[in-house]
Amino acid sequence: MLNKSLIKEECDHLLKVHYLNSASKAIPPKSAVIAYHSFLDDYIESYGDKVKERFQPTIKEAREQLAKLINAKPSEIGFVKNTSEGIGIIANGYPFEPGDNIILAENEHPANKNVWVKLQDSGLEVRLIPTVDKTMRISDIKKAIDENTKAIGIASVHYTTGLRNDLSTIGKLCKENNLLFIVDAIQSVGRIVIDVKASNIDYLSCGGHKGLLGTYGVGFIYCNSELIKKIIPPYSAHQSASLVNNHGVYELEWLEDSRRVEGGNMNYAGIAALNAGAKLINKLGLVNIEKHIISLEEEFVNAIKDLPYVMRTPVNPHKRSGLVCLEYPLGLKSKLQKIFYERKIYVTFNLNYFRVSFSFYNTSEDIETIVKAMKEVLKN
Ligand SMILES: Cc1ncc(COP(=O)(O)O)c(C=O)c1O
Repeated sequence: MLNKSLIKEECDHLLKVHYLNSASKAIPPKSAVIAYHSFLDDYIESYGDKVKERFQPTIKEAREQLAKLINAKPSEIGFVKNTSEGIGIIANGYPFEPGDNIILAENEHPANKNVWVKLQDSGLEVRLIPTVDKTMRISDIKKAIDENTKAIGIASVHYTTGLRNDLSTIGKLCKENNLLFIVDAIQSVGRIVIDVKASNIDYLSCGGHKGLLGTYGVGFIYCNSELIKKIIPPYSAHQSASLVNNHGVYELEWLEDSRRVEGGNMNYAGIAALNAGAKLINKLGLVNIEKHIISLEEEFVNAIKDLPYVMRTPVNPHKRSGLVCLEYPLGLKSKLQKIFYERKIYVTFNLNYFRVSFSFYNTSEDIETIVKAMKEVLKN
């Protein structure tokens, strides 16, 4: 059961509206806002004196909290600025060789596609698998694997359909074929259960501004403790490596854990917010959060099943993730947007569809309000 008094304490500002947009950006809870400001207050009040030293326990705690969320070890967590940067580090830092190939779904988000496509200039082959029923079929992935395949990359949840990819099956396939399994997990972490060990995930990247309840410009990667030793990030600073003089030749001695990806000063205020967000999620319990989100989704899908909104999201509940994408009924997009704005219903409006995403602070009242508005849109 979710702790409702904790949710009220932390998310009072969200209970005044119908915020159904966490797949786009989560609005940080109070503790994350306080943590963010506290870093800046300390920075200003101390004129920066030893501010980073005082912040080290928060960085340590953030690694522990994030690791707990995905069943990893704290040493496997590194901070980055967003999902794209995290994917960019493995793409550019792993010793791929010309002729190697990576398998991706053709409908991947640019965060887990563009950097791979760019690497085609260096001889990496990108095998984009056409999707059937909104995802790559396992049989198509199997057909695409050959002796030069080095990795499979996929989003845990697809951003324009809400489809929950079957990470365990793909992870197993990767293990059997000795391939790296690289996951863009921004649409899952903090919302639904994701277990890097159970799904054989080698590398995961996640921005902090969605399910993690943090903010823009901060995120994290998980990299398993063996793989990290093979990755040479595109940049380095004192946190990630030491410079050693080996008989007159300078060389880098990289850290042996995921701090290796952290070059230069970091977004400390952002990490403070991320830590508070992850702590709240761990306190509420991810299993409880997922149960709540999925039951609200079910309630919503049932309530609209006879309305003329075409659902892009899978009908099968096991393939859903608490994120529903619906096409606008013909000619009614601006009417729908107007009614939603008037009633403080926040969703993502895209060109041909809108996306409704649920979080732990949402209630059945939010569902009633949005369904009522969707019905009114249809009236003349
Ligand atoms: C699947 C997916 N990946 C990545 C991102 C964001 O990437 P980044 O954190 O690099 O901004 C989003 C949404 O913005 C997304 O839906």
